[in-house]
Amino acid sequence: MWFGKDEPSKAHSSYELLGGEEGIKRLSDRFYDYMETLPEVKELRAMHKADMQMMREKLFMFLSGWLGGPSLYIEKYGHPRLRQRHLPFPIDTKARNQWMLCMDKALSEFEIDDKLRNELLAAFLQTADFMRNKED
Ligand code: HEM
Repeated sequence: MWFGKDEPSKAHSSYELLGGEEGIKRLSDRFYDYMETLPEVKELRAMHKADMQMMREKLFMFLSGWLGGPSLYIEKYGHPRLRQRHLPFPIDTKARNQWMLCMDKALSEFEIDDKLRNELLAAFLQTADFMRNKED
């Protein structure tokens, strides 16, 4: 446990820097807006159900905890077991890159400094890469 001025504070979490609950909702919504409209991610879109409302809510809840805010997903659904939950979908490098393209574009709409943007993109890439389960 740290005390004093160097204590990591909630105010500096990625969650807060992206605008708290409102910001994370916007990030999830913009991510799926891109997934639903960008022609270059049509294979990724096709893996998802026609109705994406549930996914907008689930990604928001997951990212809330993952970015340092309230653990909404875990409270409602338990441990995410993300890799296991993605096993039914064939995820190769192309699918991973399509996912990253949507997240990159969604994040580009946020006014954050380049250091945070690059850290977030690296963390998303690491998680997305971990989801790969099919040879290219
Ligand atoms: C690497 C490429 C990825 C692909 C192709 C992919 C695809 C999918 C698909 C098809 C679903 C099910 C959608 C549905 O039920 O309609 C899903 C669920 C989900 N994905 Fe991904 N995903 C990827 C990466 C990620 C990453 C990097 C994260 C988190 C940072 C993530 C978070 C989630 C969550 C939270 C769910 C909901 C799980 C649940 O059903 O409770 N995904 N994903």
